[in-house]
Amino acid sequence: MAQLWGGRFTKETDQLVYDFNASITFDQRLLPQDIRGSKAHATMLAAVGVITEAERDQILSGLDGILKDVETGALEITTKYEDVHSFVEANLIDRIGDAGKKLHTGRSRNDQVALDMRLYVRGEVSELEERVLTLMKTLQKLMEENLETYMPGFTHLQKAQPVSFSHHIGAYMEMFKRDFSRLTDIYARLNYCPLGAGALAGTTYPLDREMTAKLLGFAGPTLNSMDSVSDRDYCIELLSACATIMMHLSRFSEEIILWNSNEYGFIELDDAYSTGSSIMPQKKNPDIAELVRGKTGRVYGALTSLLTTMKGIPLAYNKDMQEDKELTFDALDTTKGCLTLFNGMIATMQLHKDTMAVSAMRGFTNATDAADYLVKKGVPFRDAHGIIGRLVLFCLDKGCAIDDLSLEELRTIDAHFEEDIFDAISLKTCVEARNTIGAPGPAPMKDVIAKNAELLQSLTVDPA
Ligand code: ARG
Repeated sequence: MAQLWGGRFTKETDQLVYDFNASITFDQRLLPQDIRGSKAHATMLAAVGVITEAERDQILSGLDGILKDVETGALEITTKYEDVHSFVEANLIDRIGDAGKKLHTGRSRNDQVALDMRLYVRGEVSELEERVLTLMKTLQKLMEENLETYMPGFTHLQKAQPVSFSHHIGAYMEMFKRDFSRLTDIYARLNYCPLGAGALAGTTYPLDREMTAKLLGFAGPTLNSMDSVSDRDYCIELLSACATIMMHLSRFSEEIILWNSNEYGFIELDDAYSTGSSIMPQKKNPDIAELVRGKTGRVYGALTSLLTTMKGIPLAYNKDMQEDKELTFDALDTTKGCLTLFNGMIATMQLHKDTMAVSAMRGFTNATDAADYLVKKGVPFRDAHGIIGRLVLFCLDKGCAIDDLSLEELRTIDAHFEEDIFDAISLKTCVEARNTIGAPGPAPMKDVIAKNAELLQSLTVDPA
């Protein structure tokens, strides 16, 4: 046990207590952030005259040495240390002696961990932005390539009206556009530096908080020391954004699974993104999409857990907050992994455009257009709706589509039908005639694609 706080105690900590309390097994991933924060703190301490420049230089090179040695495997992070902060401080003192003992001047582990976590989360927001952007580029490509790939649009999972594959993908594009902007918002709100808040009430040393904030790339220092050590809103916001991203990926996965099924046959996932069965030789399963859908639950769980953990915590720091780490780390790892795998899966899937078109032609997806045709011939819409309803029944009886009927047959149902009906209800016409903003027709789709292209050009990933 290597603890930073033994002085006031007369007994060793019970081993079970030590293990229960320790966070080194999971907070060791904060090592780069801990070192980065400590270097900024030491630099500032020297600038304000709390330590000498020589001490600063010793501390900086000691810290660099620790990071390098951990990275090369020369130095191992073990459970002998309570947390990553103790590990760094103990090793620094081993390396450089007394100067190392001065690093923690004017600092508490409370503001230290608040800083480490913020730096980590900030880097992860950039990572997520990067991955959402990559997915958006894949979606944009699918949109550009499939303006004339027709498929049925569904409501209630029943065929409704024809759309293009481009339009269907465009719906997800809108969702991920919002996800990206949520990440950007979160970044801007979290980008303030809590270092210098001390345990909860600042410090009597003349710390230059503006300086540390600047050294660490923050927009400025946080403005209340108690809030600084107690705030985990940025983790909660980010988990909420991750939960929303996962919800979008999960809905999309559900559609991929349906489309890839033998019954739909709209797409085929690439072999590299599918798995087989140990018993059924014919199987090619969409496990990746199923796992993305399944993992959504654990990200929702992390959000709910952290909200619940935070809800009863009085100001300022309390150890409950240590629970933020595993939840946040797991949710971030999961969301990042899912974004990347999902992107690879849809970038390599094969589209069965003919099957989609045939499916769009079956199931009376042009029934609304047939009713609209009659309206154009002067029939009131409610009457037209009734006429086409009877026509659908007639077709169901015959086992055919509206398009398969002869003009004579159509005219037995209603005398307004003329030769131009066939063109009016063709799949192409049905999609191409839908030309309002946001509709699947090629004109509005091209507008949206052009807007997306501009957006993709202008979006930048926030610095880590
Ligand atoms: N491991 C702790 C955490 O993650 C670090 C802060 C410890 N502070 C304290 N006063 N015990 O929250």
